[in-house]
Amino acid sequence: MTKQVLTAEDMDAEVLATYGKEAFLSREYLEAEKKLLWPKVWQMVERVEDFPDVGDWITYNVADESVIVMRVAEGDNAEAFRAYHNVCPHRGRQLVSVPDGVHDVRGKGRKNFICGFHGWTFNAEGENTYLLDPQDWKHRLTPELTCLSTVKLDLWGGFIYINMDPESGSLKEWMGRCGELLSHFQFERMRYKWRQWAIYPCNWKVAIEAFLEPYHVAGTHTQLLAYGDYYAASQQYGWHSVSKYDTRDDKFKMAQSSGTVRAGKGDDARISTYELIRENYETVNYTASTETLVKAAKRLVDELPEGSSPAECIAHWLKSAKADDAARGVIWPDIPPEVQAESGLAWGIFPNQNILHGATFASPAYRVRPYGDDPNMCIFETYALELYPEGQEPVTEWLECAKTEENWGPVLMQDFNNMEFVHKGMKSSGFRGAMPNPHQEQKVINLHRNLARMMGGRGAPVHLFED
Ligand code: FES
Ligand SMILES: [Fe+2]
Repeated sequence: MTKQVLTAEDMDAEVLATYGKEAFLSREYLEAEKKLLWPKVWQMVERVEDFPDVGDWITYNVADESVIVMRVAEGDNAEAFRAYHNVCPHRGRQLVSVPDGVHDVRGKGRKNFICGFHGWTFNAEGENTYLLDPQDWKHRLTPELTCLSTVKLDLWGGFIYINMDPESGSLKEWMGRCGELLSHFQFERMRYKWRQWAIYPCNWKVAIEAFLEPYHVAGTHTQLLAYGDYYAASQQYGWHSVSKYDTRDDKFKMAQSSGTVRAGKGDDARISTYELIRENYETVNYTASTETLVKAAKRLVDELPEGSSPAECIAHWLKSAKADDAARGVIWPDIPPEVQAESGLAWGIFPNQNILHGATFASPAYRVRPYGDDPNMCIFETYALELYPEGQEPVTEWLECAKTEENWGPVLMQDFNNMEFVHKGMKSSGFRGAMPNPHQEQKVINLHRNLARMMGGRGAPVHLFED
């Protein structure tokens, strides 16, 4: 008997669900993704600030697709950029050669692209400006036949997004409520603190799922339990989904814990708040907070009387961190409390991103992409964005980093240690399909519900029970 497919309403009701392993392991599913998923969805390419000058360009590569994005004018708006498929219309050579296993190919000062095969040339608008011997085609090749294929492009939060589907809706529509809520955090003012990537031995879904839910903290990052409980609710928002701090015990519920911050475990909230924030910051590769926030938390014990409540500690901490930042020229965005509450802790942005956000940071953030034709491999990327005083933004570039604690910090190493073995484990004939937590792991379930929407219903999560 076929089981009932899980709907968004079912997810809101936290109906128990299951789904199979095909999406992770099947080569044929990967081939179908190349047709049904990647050419059809909005995808983040890079940050706008990586294109300071006209003529700056990059390739974005995903599965069999490669897209060239180029700045053609000044200004931080979508009109200043163009995107084309990275393919010559003559006989199909990639215009920019993208060898396997590179993060991207990029450069500066481009006025045109010249195909390396027969020399056809294209200007910044993608128009053909030169082809050898047009008379041999009886002069019948029109501009429409010889131009590059364009790709839709838009900006959100300081990120450049592309969509290869000319029929797709707008990026604004795609981002929906997630985009509205996160717009208050003004990611466009932030800059990279660091950015790292690695080719990783698991399917891209295994990799992103490792960061979508805090349910794994108790089992994976056991050392963190000394500082906080990490209980988290999660919620589908259509294509995207959010996780939010929650508490198993109603008496600890408080408005402030619905945002990125929460009080730590322990009798003295002044100390436990600091310890929680410091531990996270230092062990998650200096993310999930900022130095200002950590230093302000450290002073709680000096600035507040003994017996201060967790709510008082958090209120004081945020106020003093905001003032500290203002004094160094970092002005926090004004985030209405209801936006803060609804925006939660971290967003899974379909299909391949996850961003943990705060008033002055978006970190850690993740993006994953498939690697070649191999469902057992992916390109895994993590980055940190932060709000800096003007002129003090660090200069960074994408670094390919081996899996060492020195490169990634202890917490990500613990996550890595799961990813490879989740992927291996699912190959077992004894694995009966996933049973994600309907309260805490909805972001994972929603990824599969939305994948199925793109993949013609394939792999859709179904009700675990028939009732
Ligand atoms: S394939 Fe590009 S000029 Fe021939
Ligand atoms: Fe983790």
